[in-house]
Amino acid sequence: MPTIFILNGPNLNLLGVREPATYGYDTLGDVEERCQTRAAAHGLSVEFRQTNHEGQLVDWIQEARESADGIILNAGALTHTSVAVLDALNAADLPVIEVHLSNIFRRESFRHHSYVSLAATGVICGLGPHGYELAIEALAALIEAQSGEAAR
Ligand code: DQA
Repeated sequence: MPTIFILNGPNLNLLGVREPATYGYDTLGDVEERCQTRAAAHGLSVEFRQTNHEGQLVDWIQEARESADGIILNAGALTHTSVAVLDALNAADLPVIEVHLSNIFRRESFRHHSYVSLAATGVICGLGPHGYELAIEALAALIEAQSGEAAR
């Protein structure tokens, strides 16, 4: 069964209580539940994780390089600051879908630049938790296309 890593960065553990006007009332547990259901429908196994630490995120992306077929990443504020996360994604050489709950382009200008985007296959932002489900749809299609190519 193909495996995808869904990785979440700093402060996303506070989803549901943190700035609900921007991020909504769903908790990260609610988001994971939606992801597990959607991924199961595509025959994908999910590793869903959150960390507040940049090095931990780099370690998990390196782990995905060895053991996953694709990555969905909401790197939180590290999106806008972390060359280390970008380097790890480039080394992983996997399909990557970048997700943000909020529309980062409607917000402060420092959120308009994303290091993650430089390594992302696609980007989904502004659609709340539904964005994670759309990212799973996209990744499932990419993984299926890849396995079809490999079989040819
Ligand atoms: C976020 C957007 C980032 O700018 C912010 O730092 C976050 C969450 C989002 O999901 O909208 O922590 O990635």
